[in-house]
Amino acid sequence: MKLFAILAAAAAIAHAKVASSVMRALEVDGRADVFVSFKGSEDILESATVGGRQEVFEILTEHTEKSQKSIEELTKGFETTPLWIVKGTFIKGADQSLVDKLSKNQNIKKIDQLPDIELEPVLHQDANIAAGNSTNQWGIDTIGASNVWKYFKGEGVVIGSVDTGARHTHYLIKDSWRSDRGWYDPYNHTATPEDRNGHGTHTIGTMAGKDGYGVAPGAKWISCRGLYEGSGSSQALLECLQFMICPTRTDGTHPDCSMGAHVINNSWGSKLYNPVYEEAVATIRKAGIIPVFSNGNNGPACATTGNPGIYPNVISVGAIGSYDNEPNKLAYFSSKGPATYVDAHNVKQTITKPTISAPGFYTYSAYNTSDTAVAGLAGTSMAAPHVAGVVALLKSAKIDLTYDEIYAYLTKTADQTMLEGEPDKWYKKDKTVLDGAPNCGGVSDKTFPNNRYGYGRVNVGTILKDGKFADVATPGPKTRTPAPEPVNAKFCTFKKTILSEWNNQLFVDTIKNNDNEGFVIDRVNNIIYSVSAQNADPEHQAGCLSLVKDTSNTNSVVLNKCTGDATQIWKFDPVAKRIIHPATNFCLTSNAAKNGAGPSVAPCSASALSQFFDSCDSVPAPRKYVKLVTKTNKVLSEFYSGIYADWSADNVNEIFAYDDSSKTFQALSNGQCLDAFVNGNSYGLHTYTCDANNGNQKWNIENNKVKHATYNNLCLDVDPTNPVHAAQSAKPPSDGLRILEEAQRKLEDVLSKIEVQIKEAEASYLEDTAHGNIIRGWDGYADLKSKKDILLKKVKPYTDNEKLFSNSSVPPMPKSSVQSTGEAIYVEEKRKHDSKAAVKPTAVSSKHLKLKVKKRKHKDTIGSEEDDITA
Ligand SMILES: *[C@@H]1O[C@H](CO)[C@@H](O)[C@H](O)[C@H]1NC(C)=O
Ligand SMILES: *[C@@H]1O[C@H](CO)[C@@H](O)[C@H](O)[C@H]1NC(C)=O
Ligand SMILES: *[C@@H]1O[C@H](CO)[C@@H](O)[C@H](O)[C@H]1NC(C)=O
Ligand SMILES: *[C@@H]1O[C@H](CO)[C@@H](O)[C@H](O)[C@H]1NC(C)=O
Ligand SMILES: *[C@@H]1O[C@H](CO)[C@@H](O)[C@H](O)[C@H]1NC(C)=O
Repeated sequence: MKLFAILAAAAAIAHAKVASSVMRALEVDGRADVFVSFKGSEDILESATVGGRQEVFEILTEHTEKSQKSIEELTKGFETTPLWIVKGTFIKGADQSLVDKLSKNQNIKKIDQLPDIELEPVLHQDANIAAGNSTNQWGIDTIGASNVWKYFKGEGVVIGSVDTGARHTHYLIKDSWRSDRGWYDPYNHTATPEDRNGHGTHTIGTMAGKDGYGVAPGAKWISCRGLYEGSGSSQALLECLQFMICPTRTDGTHPDCSMGAHVINNSWGSKLYNPVYEEAVATIRKAGIIPVFSNGNNGPACATTGNPGIYPNVISVGAIGSYDNEPNKLAYFSSKGPATYVDAHNVKQTITKPTISAPGFYTYSAYNTSDTAVAGLAGTSMAAPHVAGVVALLKSAKIDLTYDEIYAYLTKTADQTMLEGEPDKWYKKDKTVLDGAPNCGGVSDKTFPNNRYGYGRVNVGTILKDGKFADVATPGPKTRTPAPEPVNAKFCTFKKTILSEWNNQLFVDTIKNNDNEGFVIDRVNNIIYSVSAQNADPEHQAGCLSLVKDTSNTNSVVLNKCTGDATQIWKFDPVAKRIIHPATNFCLTSNAAKNGAGPSVAPCSASALSQFFDSCDSVPAPRKYVKLVTKTNKVLSEFYSGIYADWSADNVNEIFAYDDSSKTFQALSNGQCLDAFVNGNSYGLHTYTCDANNGNQKWNIENNKVKHATYNNLCLDVDPTNPVHAAQSAKPPSDGLRILEEAQRKLEDVLSKIEVQIKEAEASYLEDTAHGNIIRGWDGYADLKSKKDILLKKVKPYTDNEKLFSNSSVPPMPKSSVQSTGEAIYVEEKRKHDSKAAVKPTAVSSKHLKLKVKKRKHKDTIGSEEDDITA
């Protein structure tokens, strides 16, 4: 028995490595394209010199080759694409057996699916003008580029474009393309650049076009097709970023790191956060490339900066302009700050974003439709290349400028005084009116940096006035960061119940706002302790979270006297929203169904709702949440807008918010509402963008059924024979069918009685044997068996499946922050069945107990069990 428990735990750990999106894809399609990340120390590049591209390349490729070797045997016959910019490899069409084998490999950290990347939509204005020499574009003059051209035009600088490609024969950009290792197409390996969208050509024109269209007309550009038409795969994108560091021939061979880009304006961004991008940005920075990102087109609301624009280590750019090219206004669509991120000490930080702003509404540049075509586009996508062009001008003045120096020049010289504030209303051309969002994040729009313009409007004319660098204090070498202060923390679950201490024991209960709920994260010793327990008299101090084996050898969490030993090293991860014991990769786990129960620990699982712990301030107020459970204990869940009935998986996909007034069920995993729609003669079922006026989305919960409020007699239905476990909406059966079903139900009743009799007979048989009694034949056993077999043939699943629903007693839970911010941490994760260690309360002597009760004044009841003890 014990052996079995240990094996099960090991299997669960191996499982936690495999993202449940992979498991689901395997279940549905049998195969999955996966990304396997290799283990490796985080600071593998620590010793490399910044800008030492060749060195960075060698360290990383060596690591990848070694890791790749370790899975070579397993992946024989599969198409693999190893990467070095991040430590991992792509595998096409992996099957279950391969995934199982990989998950047991010591060198592998995670098996995941990476999201596709979409281009941010831009506004388009056709311009019936051919490229000409007449005047500079307004953006070029606004940022002072034309003033510095007599000194620097970008000579000697390589600008990298990871975008939809380029029409390299276009008149405005053809002279500035570097043809040697100047094009890579991870999709089709085409020999020369092409652009099936126009976006790439346009932004290259803004960075390096001639005749007053580009900021740095003397620079060379190289391009990699990260996006095929409007969207692209993470694989292509990451291959392109590698190309920017060490460009190759068009077949991907002969990398030459001396030919890499100096600045890349990044066309990628994703609502789906994945840490590989953070790793990629870190490599780019280490290779000495300046990454410039658009801030996003989701304004005018506050806190809409895109990812990875939100990171502190990238330059993110907001858009200036209006329908009439007004240079002193922010574009209505320009995303605003503040942004939050998690620092190296795992503390959430709030920063002002964007970094800076530049023209992006409308700006005219080269287009893909002909070699002389020009189009006006609007978006922060158009603003970012203006700044990338400025970086190219600065680098052509001094090629070895560091990121920190460039950052200082850009931000300390930006134009500020003429920039206008946020209007009360924004009036769009399509007649929609948007509310203004002033002073985002409580930062006055009159001070700089603020969350509209950042430091202001970029001005290279000020930085390189008279051809010389402005007198700006640039940062010296980095000083050591001081030891981090301890932070106070209150930890809440997904449903906003709180971790608390009492009598040196841990509980998870409703918020009572008492001292017992306070914890401290000590980031020097990496311990987490309870304030109330630590304040107890020294004799009884037992404040530190500790992972120990209980009497039945099960891992559990208790509070012990703080020693800082291995059992007490914990980490709070506010991104994953987990309290983790890194040495074992176990996570603190709450018992969601029972308030007042103690927490347990279980192998960390990215999807387990029971492992959700976040700072209480970050957990929003609860809403009315339900789980939809069938009579056979299958739970309805959302997956890629489909609805399925499966065994409970302890994840966010199973939680729906029911709104009594709009009668809608909102799936927490994707934020969409349960929606039944007419589909020919029947009804389809899926989730769709919530709309309180959409009749398809209205449902009533009645008599353990989920009945449609618009379509007469339509009910939520689960057919147990459905091969992919999909749920559907169906009309109740006709009367004739009902009679048949009645008969069948009776058969089933008889069958279950017979099964009970068989079980009893078996039990007494075993009992007898155990007591050494003579084995006797079972009277009537053969009889029962044959009755059962006959019945089994008659019983078929009946079809009024919608009757199977009950609204389970899931207490109200807060809306997932995941869904509202679009950081789909949980969305991708499905269907995990993690084993959980049992909760074993520690015995406390009554003497000890009384002492604690007096000292600690617990203000409220915690749960009936504990009340009994104190009474
Ligand atoms: C732009 O000017 C250059 C030289 O100044 C000339 O060669 C080119 O033909 C001009 N282009 C157009 C479209 O007028
Ligand atoms: C090029 O790649 C795209 C995207 O993968 C694909 O749809 C297309 O068929 C490919 N074209 C050729 C000629 O191989
Ligand atoms: C240019 O882009 C458009 C989409 O914006 C596309 O329909 C068209 O085919 C592209 N033209 C060429 C020549 O690739
Ligand atoms: C520059 O970046 C923006 C977004 O970050 C993107 O939309 C644009 O296409 C990029 N331009 C190039 C040439 O890569
Ligand atoms: C679920 O049922 C309970 C009682 O059975 C009821 O109090 C609760 O309101 C129901 N939930 C919904 C969403 O109808």
